[in-house]
Amino acid sequence: MAYCNAMDSDQRLQHSQVSPCPLGKSIGRGASLRTFPCRVLFKKLNHGMVSRKGGTAVTALGPSSTPATRSCSTAKARYGEAHYRVVDLRSDAATKPGPAMCQAMVEAAVRGDLIEDDQTVNELQEMAADMFGMEAALFVPTGTMGNLIAVMVHCRERGDEMIVGDLSHLHIYEQGGSAQLAGVHTTTVTTLPDGTFDLEQLESKIRHNPHNPCFTRSRLICLENTHNIQGGRVLPLTFLQEVRALADRYGLSVHMDGARVMNAAVAQGVSLHTILQHTHSVSACLNKGLGAPVGAVLAGPRDFISRAVRCRKALGGLIHQAGILAAAGKHSLLDMGGSMEEDHRNARTFAQSLLDCDTLFGVDTAAVESNIVRFYLKEPSLSPTEFVARMGQVGEGEEAALGQGIQVLLYPFFGKFVRAVWHYGISLEDTQLATQKMQFVASQYLQKKARAQ
Ligand SMILES: Cc1ncc(COP(=O)(O)O)c(C=O)c1O
Repeated sequence: MAYCNAMDSDQRLQHSQVSPCPLGKSIGRGASLRTFPCRVLFKKLNHGMVSRKGGTAVTALGPSSTPATRSCSTAKARYGEAHYRVVDLRSDAATKPGPAMCQAMVEAAVRGDLIEDDQTVNELQEMAADMFGMEAALFVPTGTMGNLIAVMVHCRERGDEMIVGDLSHLHIYEQGGSAQLAGVHTTTVTTLPDGTFDLEQLESKIRHNPHNPCFTRSRLICLENTHNIQGGRVLPLTFLQEVRALADRYGLSVHMDGARVMNAAVAQGVSLHTILQHTHSVSACLNKGLGAPVGAVLAGPRDFISRAVRCRKALGGLIHQAGILAAAGKHSLLDMGGSMEEDHRNARTFAQSLLDCDTLFGVDTAAVESNIVRFYLKEPSLSPTEFVARMGQVGEGEEAALGQGIQVLLYPFFGKFVRAVWHYGISLEDTQLATQKMQFVASQYLQKKARAQ
């Protein structure tokens, strides 16, 4: 996995040192307040990740002979005496901070004061607001909390309702927090394969009977960009514009679950502001492709953020000494997109190789717009779960056939799909290893099937 990308991280630090920071400061070089908790955290983070010693990557699993560069970033797992290469494509939340990010955390200016007085947190928030083209931003522990706070702030009265895609993360993977914690009713609209909605259907879901007590009151439309379940689809700017126009017509707010909005901006080659000008608020994850260990940023108008501060506290999301974590977030924002283009390219390369094995795999390569590849198995006798298990094991004859054992970690995904996600630390070489393994598993399966017939 991403454990031996130290060289790359060094380059990233050099890059960030010369890049003008939106605040006119270089990263992690402000007040250098080395605190005890910083050092403890640094040690903890370093456990299980690479430290660079004489150009050799050392993982928690033992020393690897691989030079610590991005071009060779798989971890080596140990099974008995054997060393296997591991490519972790389960999630972009699997990214680990590199040494430069850890250094920024160690050097973060941290204040123990409770509220709004942590210099590094404030810098992160200002930086994010600036990049997003929003008035203000708030550091929150997770994307899930960012979304929930947005719902709480936009839907303030009992009987308020939000409209979400039926395949949205907010609706499917956040435990119905909007209902159970915020008391907000949800109505769904069909998520189309490209992550958008049919606008007529969306409009038909808006309840605008303010004087009829029978109905909930529509307050909010939630969008997801890029769309996770639909395989990292990037929402077209025209769609965003149309949704905003509709929302304005009915006096609704638009919130974007932008866990991967950075990937969307990179894929479309536009600024974040170009995307987010069509929304009232956004929750953007720092803990996904951007490589920070923790955190998301919720951004919106100033009065929205003032209310969000109260909700965050009520949800237990006010972190003390958060500067350590915010430093990682700042580092990741400064480096934004640095490796995302490469992630998107590698994802497309892998999708193309699936297409070359089209007796077994189905994939819509045109739908691979960012860092996620979603594919399915054409053989009913090979389930996604079984395929994923085979990719994660090193079977008999594999080392002889491939020259080494390769474990590729994947998730069986929503519906009958398998999902593979590219992220910081997964290199072209890792992608080639994953392809080799996929081809090996496919050929073993097809040979066995032919023998059985
Ligand atoms: C689209 C989307 N939104 C929100 C989240 C939640 O982020 P977190 O894991 O930080 O709570 C995720 C996590 O994978 C996601 O994919």
